[in-house]
Amino acid sequence: MNNMEKIPKERLPKHVGIIMDGNGRWAKKRGLPRALGHREGSNRVVDIVEYSYELGIEHLSLYAFSTENWKRPATEIEKLMELLSFSIKKHLERLKTNGVRIRILGDLEPFPRKLKKEIEFALLETEQNDRMFLNIGLNYGGQDECVRAAKKLVALAKDGKITLNDVTKEKFEECLYTNGQPPLDLLIRPSGELRVSNFMLYQLAYAEFWFSDILWPDFTKEVYASALKDFIKRNRRYGGL
Ligand code: FPP
Repeated sequence: MNNMEKIPKERLPKHVGIIMDGNGRWAKKRGLPRALGHREGSNRVVDIVEYSYELGIEHLSLYAFSTENWKRPATEIEKLMELLSFSIKKHLERLKTNGVRIRILGDLEPFPRKLKKEIEFALLETEQNDRMFLNIGLNYGGQDECVRAAKKLVALAKDGKITLNDVTKEKFEECLYTNGQPPLDLLIRPSGELRVSNFMLYQLAYAEFWFSDILWPDFTKEVYASALKDFIKRNRRYGGL
């Protein structure tokens, strides 16, 4: 580990979100197929997950596949699914023994049965862990998440379990995929795009943003460390003075 060791855990963000972007451009720059960009990107996922729990970050949310990514060519979607399946199988044991609990943000329903089973197995295998929550956004959209939360509340009201006055910020948060987890402290987006692309719209209310031109496959632990060091310098006021 580098000089991050000197930073006390209390000063680190409790919850980091990352929009992993730029795999395609990374591959194009090298004259490689896009799938190889995703493959290299998945290697960075391993590095960043590992570094996060080593540092003591308690919640890490990664945007792997959005509700809008279904618009991509079927062959690319297929490759991404294969990569996901491969990565789960390859790294599950290590995640398990290192105290990582996997959680999915998103609706797995439209995914192939085999992949769904593999993911459900990984969730079950890690459900007792409590060192770090690893949230993986799959078929995830922030707007979709809020609409689902609203539907859950209406269903509870219809069943007579809640009334209008029970609909509070806390109750709404319980209906999000991140139920029980703190809001985002830091949102990282590499690849030069300056937008949030429907990622954790509710949870990012007071997040600090960190943008960089670096493409995700080049997002090393050192780049991550520099984002974390920048975060530590930010003056967070949450609307106060
Ligand atoms: C964005 O790059 C990246 C994705 C849509 C997929 C992210 C997936 C991975 C990093 C690999 C698998 C994930 C896990 C959790 C093991 P892009 O294709 O939009 O790049 P571009 O904007 O340069 O075309």
